[in-house]
Amino acid sequence: MNTVLISDYIENPDIEFDILKESLSEAANKDIEVILLWNTIANKEYIDKFPNLKAIIRYGAGYDNVDLEYTKENGIFVCNTPDYGTDEVSDTAIAMIMNIARGINTYDTLAKDYFDTWQENTNKIIKRNNEYKVGVIGAGRIGGSVLLKANALKFDTYFYDPYLAYGYEKQLSSKRVEKLDDLLEITDILSINCPLTEETKDMIDESFINRMKEGSSLVNTARGKIVKDIDVFYEPLKSGYLNSVAFDVLPFEPPKESLLINAWRNNEKWLDGRVIINPHTAYFSDTAFYEMREKTALNAKRVIDGLRPINIVNGL
Ligand code: NAI
Repeated sequence: MNTVLISDYIENPDIEFDILKESLSEAANKDIEVILLWNTIANKEYIDKFPNLKAIIRYGAGYDNVDLEYTKENGIFVCNTPDYGTDEVSDTAIAMIMNIARGINTYDTLAKDYFDTWQENTNKIIKRNNEYKVGVIGAGRIGGSVLLKANALKFDTYFYDPYLAYGYEKQLSSKRVEKLDDLLEITDILSINCPLTEETKDMIDESFINRMKEGSSLVNTARGKIVKDIDVFYEPLKSGYLNSVAFDVLPFEPPKESLLINAWRNNEKWLDGRVIINPHTAYFSDTAFYEMREKTALNAKRVIDGLRPINIVNGL
C-alpha cells in the first residue's frame, strides 16, 4: 500500500523509491502513515489531514517546522536526520578557522593594493597554530568533529558544553571549560556548534562580545538566530576589538540590509577580508545530500516495517 508521502521539494524521488518501492505515494491521502518532510509546515491543520499518521521524518537536522507538542499528544513520532553532513559542516568550520589563523582572505584583500612592496607585508597578529586557543561551544557531533580536526592541525582546543557527559573531553582530547565566560576569556577563535534553543537564542549579543577576548574571532556554522543581530559585530570589527567573523548562518537568510551586511556587500576597505559569509551551505556535498535522502527513507522503512524509528526528537 502507498503509505509514505514526500511533502515537497524532491522532484525525482529515485533514491526514496529504491528504498520504499510501492510504499511511496504520490497522493496526499488519508492512508499516509509516514511523511518525509522538507519545508512544509507540519502544524495541526496539516497533520490532521492524515488520520493514520505514525511518523514525520525530517530531511535534515532542523525540525522547527513541526508542531512537536501536537505530534506528541497524538503519538506521532517526529524524527530528524542529523548526521548526513557532520563532516561537511565541521570541515567548513575548520576552513573558516584556518582562514582566520593564516589570514588568507585578509592578505588577498590587502595584496591588491601592494605594488612596490610585497613579501614584507606581514600581518603581525598571525600566530603559529599551537599558539591559538580554539574554543567550541557545543561539543556534539559537529563540535566534537571540529575539535578533533583542530587538534590534528595542532590548535590548542577547549570546549564548553554543560550537557555533554563527563569523559568526552578524553575522547575528544580537548579541555572542558565549566563556565561559558571562562571559554570566552581565553579563546582566540570561537566556533559556535550548539543548537538553537530557548537558552541559546540571541545568546551572542553586545554583552557576549564584550566578554570575548580582545582581538579574537568568531565562526558560526550552527544557527543564525543564536546571534541577536548581525550588527552587534559592526563596531567591534570596526574598532578592531574583534579580528574576524565567519558565518555560514545568519539571523535572517538571505540577509536584510544592515550596517555590516552593506559594508560586506560593498567590499568596504576597512573590513580587509575580515568578514566571510557563506549562504548556509556548510552541510552540502553531493554525497551528503544523497546520504540525507537515503537515511530519511531508511528511517521511514523502519516505521512501515513495524520497527521504532531512530532519531526521535519529540520525546515519544
Ligand atoms: P548535536 O546535538 O550533536 O550537538 C550539539 C551539542 O550542543 C550537544 O552536545 C549539546 O549538549 C550542546 N549544547 C546544547 N545547548 C548548549 C548550550 N547552551 N551551550 C553549550 N552547548 C550546548 O548537534 P550537531 O549535529 O552537532 O549540530 C550542531 C549545530 O549545527 C545545530 O545547531 C545544527 O542545527 C547545526 N547544523 C548546521 C548545518 C549547516 O548547514 N550550517 C547543518 C547541520 C547542522
